[in-house]
Amino acid sequence: MNIGILGGGQLALMMAQAGRSLGQSFMFLCPNSNPCAAAFGEHLCAPYDDESALKQLAAWADVVTYEFENVSLSALELLQEQVPVYPSASVLAVARDRLVEKQHFGTLGIPTARFAPVETLADLTSAVQEIRLPAFLKTRTQGYDGKGQALLRGENDLGGAWEQLGKSPCIVESKVAFKRELSVIAARGQKGEMVFYPISENRHREGILRLSINRLGDPLQIQANSIIKSLMENLKHVGVMALELFQVNDQLFANEFAPRVHNSGHWTIEAAQTSQFENHLRAICGLPLGEINSPEPAAMVNLIGRLPEEGKIRDIPGATPHFYGKEERPNRKVGHITLTGKNCTVEEFDQRLRAILRIAGETELAGCSAPLVFDNKPGQVLS
Ligand SMILES: Nc1ncnc2c1ncn2[C@@H]1O[C@H](COP(=O)(O)OP(=O)(O)O)[C@@H](O)[C@H]1O
Ligand SMILES: [Mg+2]
Repeated sequence: MNIGILGGGQLALMMAQAGRSLGQSFMFLCPNSNPCAAAFGEHLCAPYDDESALKQLAAWADVVTYEFENVSLSALELLQEQVPVYPSASVLAVARDRLVEKQHFGTLGIPTARFAPVETLADLTSAVQEIRLPAFLKTRTQGYDGKGQALLRGENDLGGAWEQLGKSPCIVESKVAFKRELSVIAARGQKGEMVFYPISENRHREGILRLSINRLGDPLQIQANSIIKSLMENLKHVGVMALELFQVNDQLFANEFAPRVHNSGHWTIEAAQTSQFENHLRAICGLPLGEINSPEPAAMVNLIGRLPEEGKIRDIPGATPHFYGKEERPNRKVGHITLTGKNCTVEEFDQRLRAILRIAGETELAGCSAPLVFDNKPGQVLS
């Protein structure tokens, strides 16, 4: 099958790598001159809303998908006239606008932080009386990796944050004092069948994901599955979906969802029988979903801005480097390292993970005094 992808970054790259074993071919529409996915298929170099490029992609592809939410709805609608597009434009319409998304969670009874729409500085001033500070001001669209948002600590921050975000339509939401930040990834096929991956616990710094650890047998898995299930069914979603969650006491609050493969699911390549990338392709192509079957304990550390020496990573048992072939640039995701931990002790896993964090330059996480794999018993062998 021919798969068209809007985007040519690392998510497109890993989808194309997964698609090789399914006998699929790929074409990427991406405005960058040398996107990292281009090594795995044909590259159409044009803006995402270029009509003739969209038509060319639709004419070649049997199905089209995308690697990020900041695609225009009109581009997807144009594609949909010619070729099946999954997830559909109606799913993207909810995911790409933080206000519509939060309101949608509300209609499904899914708890979120308190929020309010903001169109003017006066709206913002009155909203924070209700929401209370600290809070986040976020642009409704185009945000990612912590971009397009500002933390409001005190009343004096309002004017500056409003200017900084370009006075564009925003949402203000209260800062959640979460115990853990989690995500759940699931896939839904064309006949409505679903698979759910174990939840990941995620650590961010400066709004960018740094570390994900899968939490096998976590007591909150059932709650996470039930939220993402209701969302996928309501939206008639087809493909992989990732839902970001905040844990407060033992309750989950939805932060945002992504109708695509997700950074916190990269560990599924090494540690699950079927990766998120393969299951996304299976779902959008109408193939049976792949089983997940007792995944291994695993963690993933992002490589941001610069790549370490590959040999140093290979020296750590259970570690696999993924370098995306992107130019090093501050705050840019240029690779990741996965650590799997079957049959090692909790202490060994913790030590190896800290070594990887040091290699990745995440010194604060590497040195944190609490065990990273905290909910396991000392001496326990991971399985
Ligand atoms: N309301 C909130 N309360 C606490 N932390 C938040 C809140 N909103 C965002 N954050 C932090 O900032 C990170 C990035 O924000 P998010 O809304 O997920 O945007 P994006 O991932 O699109 O950049 C989150 O993963 C979380 O760590
Ligand atoms: Mg996020």
